Amino acid sequence: MYSVAGSDTTSTALTVIIWHLLANPKTMQKLTAEICENFNSAEAINYQALRALPYLHAVIEEERWLPNSSIKCDKAAFSPFSYGPRSCLGRNMAYMEMSLTLALLVFRLKLSFANHDNEIQAGFDVEDAFVAIKPSVPVTVKKVTA
Ligand code: HEM
Repeated sequence: MYSVAGSDTTSTALTVIIWHLLANPKTMQKLTAEICENFNSAEAINYQALRALPYLHAVIEEERWLPNSSIKCDKAAFSPFSYGPRSCLGRNMAYMEMSLTLALLVFRLKLSFANHDNEIQAGFDVEDAFVAIKPSVPVTVKKVTA
């Protein structure tokens, strides 16, 4: 149970985030720019510094929470880790894993859909079956050259 709570949730969140970054190249560019402006090597990337980056935070939390977002929502209704004594024990770890993975990913690699139009047309749905069954996403990966 602990391994499902700790890995399926985070890997699903990361898969969905990466799909939407690939589907929205401007968002990917903004995130990449924020990471590359703040770190000059992959080794320098650390969670303490990542916590101060607003765009990375918005990518993880959904953009709609940026102060200048045109979508007005009540943040109090947003509770992906639940509330109260049985809320998620791994919340901080999940943010750390997601922040470090995304930052290192965009710093080191250039990702794109192998077939952009097909992906956009098909969309991305996660099927809930106790653990999430995710569709496969063919992606082209190139190493970033300085
Ligand atoms: C994006 C990532 C994650 C999300 C969205 C998430 C979400 C949640 C939610 C909504 C609950 C409450 C479930 C309920 O009320 O039945 C929960 C519980 C829990 N989560 Fe997470 N979680 C995430 C990552 C993690 C990680 C990384 C760990 C551990 C390393 C973890 C460990 C747990 C545990 C042990 C519980 C049960 C707490 C209890 O019942 O006292 N979670 N999580």
